[in-house]
Amino acid sequence: MKEKLELMLVSAIEAMKNATDEAMLQEIRVSYLGKKGQLTSIMKGMGSLSNEERPIVGAVANRVKDQVSETFEEQLKSIKSSVMASRLSHEKIDVTLPGRIKTLGTKHPVTLVTEELIEIFSSLGFCVAEGPEVEQDFYNFEALNIPKDHPARDMQDTFYINDDVVLRTHTSPVQIRSMLKQKPPLRIIAPGTVYRRDSDITHSPMFHQIEGFMVDENITFGDLKGILTTFIHECFGKKVGVRFRPSFFPFTEPSAEVDIQCVICGGKGCRVCKNSGWLEILGSGMIDPEVFKSVEYDSERYSGFAFGMGLERIAMLKYGVNDLRLFFENDVRFLRQF
Ligand code: DAH
Repeated sequence: MKEKLELMLVSAIEAMKNATDEAMLQEIRVSYLGKKGQLTSIMKGMGSLSNEERPIVGAVANRVKDQVSETFEEQLKSIKSSVMASRLSHEKIDVTLPGRIKTLGTKHPVTLVTEELIEIFSSLGFCVAEGPEVEQDFYNFEALNIPKDHPARDMQDTFYINDDVVLRTHTSPVQIRSMLKQKPPLRIIAPGTVYRRDSDITHSPMFHQIEGFMVDENITFGDLKGILTTFIHECFGKKVGVRFRPSFFPFTEPSAEVDIQCVICGGKGCRVCKNSGWLEILGSGMIDPEVFKSVEYDSERYSGFAFGMGLERIAMLKYGVNDLRLFFENDVRFLRQF
């Protein structure tokens, strides 16, 4: 029996050392030490031993059992640690690999100019207002003293949705909407998208304007000049020359177009300013009493000025862009430069 036990021990140790995973190892342990395992079946022979032999064999059996258990624990530990090692080597992260770079967009130049103008006019006490791009004839034309036979209403300039509804051709309707909502004093700017049936190198059917107006008692042409000159100096630099030229708009009287000294040639004359040394940048004027009538403001008591300008044009002059179409092509090589 002693020999059987020793042999069992050798074969158990050998089998366990060869086990490659935990399940296999457990199976081996059960086959030697389990209730129906080899040790139990060898021990069945104890009954036939003499009284002297029995404790000796018993001691051997206990030692064999302990040694098999010990081998089992050792092997279990080594299997677990090799499983862990292989997981670690499979799942390891190479911290030296280059990261995935998130590309950041840039703001569109028209957005940049819009934000800058809002900033400048905010510092002069103006608030921002907005209006719809699909606009009623009343706000876009009628209330702005643009009569039914005015050329601006021509199908060639205006996108009509139906007889009464248009895509707004300018941001001036926001004047009407604001004045109908609020009483003077009023200092408002209204940036936004506008639409005209026009498309060539210098015209896009969709473009952007910013409208501004100020209404209160005793507002004069001097206020118009002061505010617009301040704005131009903030936007294009303190040294740039400014000139007010008589003009005509249905909604202002008197009206003026405002020129700045050419930012490209400094006033000497070049291709951009067509050798005049000046660039037109906005339209303006004192709000016509006819406009006040349509919003029920008392033109005996209140006066005001208004102005409007194209944002793409300001962006072109500020950033030296020579083709309007670049703003709408969404070529990132262009857009990234701002
Ligand atoms: N609405 C005019 C346009 O689209 C621009 C303009 C001119 C707006 C004079 C004004 C203004 O408020 O007073 O061409």
